[in-house]
Amino acid sequence: MNILVIGSGGREHTLAWKLAQSPLAAKLYAVPGNPGMAEVAECIPGVDICDNAALVRLAQDKAIDLVVVGPEVPLTNGVVDAMNAAGIKAFGPTKLAAEIEGSKSFSKNLMKKYGIPTAKYEVFTNADDARAYVEKEGAPIVIKADGLAAGKGVVVAMTLDEALDAIHEIMDDAAFGQAGSRVVIEEFMAGEEASLLAFTDGKTIVPMVSSQDHKRAYDGDKGPNTGGMGTYAPAPVMTKELVAEAVEKILKPVIDAMAKEGRPYKGCLYAGLMITDDGPKVVEFNARFGDPETQVVLPLLESDLVKIMLACVDGTLADLDIAWSHGAAVCVVMASGGYPKSYQKGFAIDGLEKAKAAGTLVFHAGTAAKDGKIVTSGGRVLGVVATAEDVKQAVDKAYKGVAAISFQDAFYRKDIAHRALERLQKN
Ligand code: AMP
Ligand code: GLY
Repeated sequence: MNILVIGSGGREHTLAWKLAQSPLAAKLYAVPGNPGMAEVAECIPGVDICDNAALVRLAQDKAIDLVVVGPEVPLTNGVVDAMNAAGIKAFGPTKLAAEIEGSKSFSKNLMKKYGIPTAKYEVFTNADDARAYVEKEGAPIVIKADGLAAGKGVVVAMTLDEALDAIHEIMDDAAFGQAGSRVVIEEFMAGEEASLLAFTDGKTIVPMVSSQDHKRAYDGDKGPNTGGMGTYAPAPVMTKELVAEAVEKILKPVIDAMAKEGRPYKGCLYAGLMITDDGPKVVEFNARFGDPETQVVLPLLESDLVKIMLACVDGTLADLDIAWSHGAAVCVVMASGGYPKSYQKGFAIDGLEKAKAAGTLVFHAGTAAKDGKIVTSGGRVLGVVATAEDVKQAVDKAYKGVAAISFQDAFYRKDIAHRALERLQKN
């Protein structure tokens, strides 16, 4: 089969790496791809991943049998609908179904209607009404821009002043443009977070191994929010019982709800969960694989990803047995100095082969090829991943890989998986 992966980050590199292992994958393409993906796929630059017609033409030119969509923007833009209309199979939700990520108010209203556990909330389009609600409810409280804001449109306000500032910034100053013309204000949930990704064909839902992301830039979970500085899987907070509870109370009901609403959901559904004293509750749904969760989840998948994706598209997921390794995986993100604020690009990256020789996988997130060298070209540059029998060994191995790699101003967190390690020590 010819397979086309859409996207260019660490998540897409991991998807391409795993797809390439399938005996079904004859030829892999990536649009636009990155230098890491070029090891397993032919990268096609110069096509706008938000231009559905151009993507369909490309898929037709290359006789693509399966399209795999990485990021949320092409999904909410309807690329799966466009491929389907052209008779091309595509893994991912349709435009209507992707709204579960594209609109927080849609997803919150859906959860309320179908009794799926999540924080109590109200939706506002008027800033004064939003302020009055916040003053009535008090802090801590959470303010979220409704639309896509690249993970940055959420303020967890610990004081009333912070909450009022957030409303001012999102609604009065339109810091996130149209995405903030409507805000969701919700109850603060205390607990530990975990990500539970799942494969679904619209009827059957199969959870992947759980994982946990480190969203803050600095050690000790301090500093500004980022796209994710590292991950590990499985997340020990997600015991077998909690996974089962999340499947029964959250994943199955939401898939049924989407079908009932006339928006059957197929693809990967990402549930961001808060493990509260009352059990798992939904922080958010994403319509795609997580980044950098994918970097630790897929290396633990023992089954053929192409087969799974085809089963999701064809509605035959119930017929598959999906096997996972019993080990652990850890991903340490190496970022450009200054990220998530401004940073310089174009620095040569050394030691990639040495890191591979140390037994780690190196997924490219923000790299470019220049004069025969690989250079930095983004905030998050690389995801260095190790798998091992347990999380402690995986952490040690991943940091050996990190130590082998260098580029100017590189920075990374030194405490990835600290919660899992602390839990192990306690037990
Ligand atoms: P979101 O984009 O909705 O995932 O929110 C980003 C981050 O804000 C989450 O990963 C949580 O750490 C935090 N967050 C969002 N909603 C809540 C909530 N209701 N209570 C506590 N923390 C939250
Ligand atoms: N790692 C968070 C996300 O993919 O949304």
